[in-house]
Amino acid sequence: MEYIEISGGRELSGEVVLSGSKNSALPILACSLLTDKNIALSNIPDLLDIKSMIELIESLGVKAKKKNHNYILTTKKITSHEANYNLVRKMRASFLTLGPLLAREGFAKISLPGGCAIGSRPVDLHLYAMKKLGANIDFYDGYVIAKSNAKRLIGDKIDFPKISVGATENAVMAAVLAKGETLINNAALEPEIVDLCSCLTSMGARIEGAGTKQIKIDGVDSFLETSHQVISDRIEACTYIIAAAITKSRLCIKKINFEHIGKFLEVMHEMGLKFKFIDQSILIEKSKILSPISLKTKEYPGFPTDLQAQLMTLACVSNGKSYIEESIFENRFMHVPELNRLGAKIKINGKNAIINGNCRFIGAEVMATDLRASVSLILAALIAKGKTKINRIYHLDRGYENIDYKLSTCGAAIKRGKNES
Ligand code: EPZ
Repeated sequence: MEYIEISGGRELSGEVVLSGSKNSALPILACSLLTDKNIALSNIPDLLDIKSMIELIESLGVKAKKKNHNYILTTKKITSHEANYNLVRKMRASFLTLGPLLAREGFAKISLPGGCAIGSRPVDLHLYAMKKLGANIDFYDGYVIAKSNAKRLIGDKIDFPKISVGATENAVMAAVLAKGETLINNAALEPEIVDLCSCLTSMGARIEGAGTKQIKIDGVDSFLETSHQVISDRIEACTYIIAAAITKSRLCIKKINFEHIGKFLEVMHEMGLKFKFIDQSILIEKSKILSPISLKTKEYPGFPTDLQAQLMTLACVSNGKSYIEESIFENRFMHVPELNRLGAKIKINGKNAIINGNCRFIGAEVMATDLRASVSLILAALIAKGKTKINRIYHLDRGYENIDYKLSTCGAAIKRGKNES
C-alpha cells in the first residue's frame, strides 16, 4: 500500500492550479447514459473515483474516449442495465446511474451502495423520487430493481423531506426525459447541482430553478450533442487555502470560483486570515496566529461538511478553544484519533468536537480513513515537527488530483512511497 511522507516546518510559496470538481464530474459522467448523442466534457480531474465511474458507465454501454482532462462520451445503446456490486461498492456515487438508466430504458438494477466510513448513507430519498416519477421499486439480493410502470417515467411533484445532493441529482436526471412537468421541492442548492443542470440544459433539457430550493423540469423526447466544461473543485480550493493559512504562507490559488466558497471565506476572515482576489485567483497573505472558531456544518450555502476535517486541523493551531458541530453525517470524526496521535487535543461529545488551540503537532505514523480525513492529516503534517507518514493514501487519490506534486511544487517536503506488504 502506498504512503505519503512529509517533513514538516516548510513555508509554502508560489501557486496551485485547481482541478475540475470531482462532485460535479461524477453526476455529469452518469448523465451521459441519458443520450445517444456525443457529449464532450473538459476539466475532468484524474482521480480514482472518476476512473471508477468511467469503468461503471462503460459496463453499461458508454464509449469513453479520453485525452488528458477531456472526454468524448457516446452511448449509442445501453448494453447492460445492471450496476454491479463490485463496481458500486467502490464508490457510492455509482448510485447516480439509477436516474439516467430508468429515464432512458425504464429499467435499472443497481447494487445498494451500503455504508461507508462516514455513515450509513441511506438511499431512501433517491428511491422516493423514482417512485414519484412512476417507477416500481423492488429489492433483491442487495440490489434495487427499478421498473417504470408506463413506457416512460411521468413527471410529478417531488417533495424531499430532507435535503440530499445525490437524491436531487438522481431526480433531475430521471425527470429530464419524463413525460410532462416535474417539480422538485427542497432541492439541494450545491454548485455541483447547478453544473449538472447547466450540462443537461446544453443537451436540450428544459430546467428552471437550478441552485434554488425548487427545480422545475419539462421532460423532452431527445437530446442534442453538446460540450461542457466542469467547474473547478471548491473543496480542493478551500483545502489549499487552509494549507496556506496553517503554514503561514503566501500562496496563490488559481482557477477558483469565489461565489462557490462564500461561507468558507467568511469563516477564514473571522479567524483573521488575510487574502485578496486577483481575476480568477485568490492570493493568501502570510497570516499571523488565527482566532478560534465555533460553527456547525450545513447544507450549501452553509459551511460544507467536506471541509470539516480540514478546518479542525487549522483550529488546532488557533489561539483558543474552537467548537465544530457535524450536522450532516453521523460519523465524520474519524480524523480525530489520528490528529490526536499527532499531538492535537480534541474531544468528541456526540456530534460536537471541542478543539483546544495552540497545538504543536509532532510527526508520527498515522492512517487515512476517508477522503477528507486523510487530507486533514496532510495539513497537520505540513507543520508538524519531524516526519509524518500517512498510510492508506488511496483515500486521498480518490478526491485530490496530484496533491503530492502540487504541494511539492509549492515547497513542501513531501514524497510518496510504497510499503512492502
Ligand atoms: C454528496 O454526497 C457528496 N458526494 C459528499 O461528498 C458530500 O459530503 C455530501 O453530498 C453532502 O454535501 C458527491 O457529490 C459524490 P447527501 P451525498 O445525499 O449525495 C442523508 C466527498 O468527500 N441521506 O446530500 O451522498 C445522508 O445520510 C463526499 O467528496 C438520506 O438520509 O450526500 C446524509 O446524512 C463525501 N437519505 C445527508 O442526507 C438519502 O436517500 C446528506 O447526504 C440520501 C441521503
